[in-house]
Amino acid sequence: MMKNSGIPSSLIVENLKGVVGDKWVITEREFMENYLKDETPDPIRPKPAEDLILVKPSSTEEVSRILKIANENRIPVFPVGGRTGLVGGAVPTEPGIILSLERMSRIEVDEENLMAVAEAGATLGDLIKAAESAGLFFPPHPGDEGAQIGGLIATNAGGARAIKYGVMRNYVRGLEIVLPTGEILSLGGKLLKNNTGYDLMQLIIGSEGTLCVITKAVIRLFPKSKYMVTLIVPFNERSDALRTVPQILRSGIIPLAIEYVQLREILEAAGHINENWPVQKGLAQLIIILEGSSQEEILSACEGISKVCEANNAIDILLAETPEEQNRILKIRSNIYTALKPRMMDILDVTVPPSSLEKLMEQVDMIASKYGIYLPTYGHAGDGNLHVHIMRKDVESIDMAKKIKEEIYGAALKLGGVITGEHGIGKLRTENISLVLSEKHIDIMRSIKRIFDPNNILNPNKVLP
Ligand code: LAC
Ligand code: ZN
Repeated sequence: MMKNSGIPSSLIVENLKGVVGDKWVITEREFMENYLKDETPDPIRPKPAEDLILVKPSSTEEVSRILKIANENRIPVFPVGGRTGLVGGAVPTEPGIILSLERMSRIEVDEENLMAVAEAGATLGDLIKAAESAGLFFPPHPGDEGAQIGGLIATNAGGARAIKYGVMRNYVRGLEIVLPTGEILSLGGKLLKNNTGYDLMQLIIGSEGTLCVITKAVIRLFPKSKYMVTLIVPFNERSDALRTVPQILRSGIIPLAIEYVQLREILEAAGHINENWPVQKGLAQLIIILEGSSQEEILSACEGISKVCEANNAIDILLAETPEEQNRILKIRSNIYTALKPRMMDILDVTVPPSSLEKLMEQVDMIASKYGIYLPTYGHAGDGNLHVHIMRKDVESIDMAKKIKEEIYGAALKLGGVITGEHGIGKLRTENISLVLSEKHIDIMRSIKRIFDPNNILNPNKVLP
């Protein structure tokens, strides 16, 4: 760090302590271990730098003062949330400051306007609970409930239940941010319409901590749905399951979620958390979540979906109605990644138009058989977003994993897809971003980065190649 700033890091530490108090500036490595990594599989996770200071501010003012100190001294700052990312986006890869917003975790629900005002360090779990206790509902489920609001917004998290109302971007109505130069900006508000100038708020959503630090957000909520059911539909053939997905989407029924899983991995996930998966047949399964305002509405949607599934050779349909059973299903689904992670080399999140899912899977199968390996796959099928996993035992080296990854990327691109629909670019995918974006596009991104962060202190060398 001293290399960048030219002033002793002990003086920086003193200055930071002056802002947040002694207790909230941590310099001992053993007390910052959890802040040095995210959930990226071990073999490919970027290495953290050695010389790091962990700082935990309690207010936007403090964030601003920290950033001013960092900017004046050209010290890199790595904003971190729940560190549940999968592309190394929050790993502090250069000597500098780790900025954790965990102490800023207040949530206020505005029932009249159906919105929550949440500080960046509040968790997804906190938001779900706060909405629920106000009789409201936050529909999407972007994975790990330990994820924090700031991170969910910075990565435009998606996850399951994004079909009906969209991903994080569609919920954020206002932001409070701090620029790397220390200025505090308020964008949008408790508004459903806002056409005042260029939409910087949408630019910041998904910018992965490279443009500013998000300190607070206005998040749209919905009335609690009166009825919710979860269907599990097993199929003998993957192609039948995947072909069903666009047909459901065209049928006029809009589920909250259509997830695709394979029996092998979902059974492993259930075992991993000591649960039982309720459907033991069918190689490929769809998990469909429906919500509505009356029982009749849900029943008629279930009937419509059954017809589509049966026409595509579904072998059964299980209906889960109690909240407990439905939560259990979602929890097992959410744990596939955790179950596979210790044996994993990489997890991809290619996304294609939903009607091309079946073709994408055919290509994945061809790549797997070319290399003589099995590529476990599941994902948010209703969003055209599949997670293909490259397992450690199947690849001799990181280079071989890269080759397989690039072939899968190629297949998705040929189908009009992108390399990432969910996990983002972070550090890991910077080497692949130009597969999707033109040189001019990347040039414009670089210029935007310079405007926000003239000294390149905020999450440096992430997103941009
Ligand atoms: C999931 C994470 C890995 O869908 O994105 O489970
Ligand atoms: Zn996912």
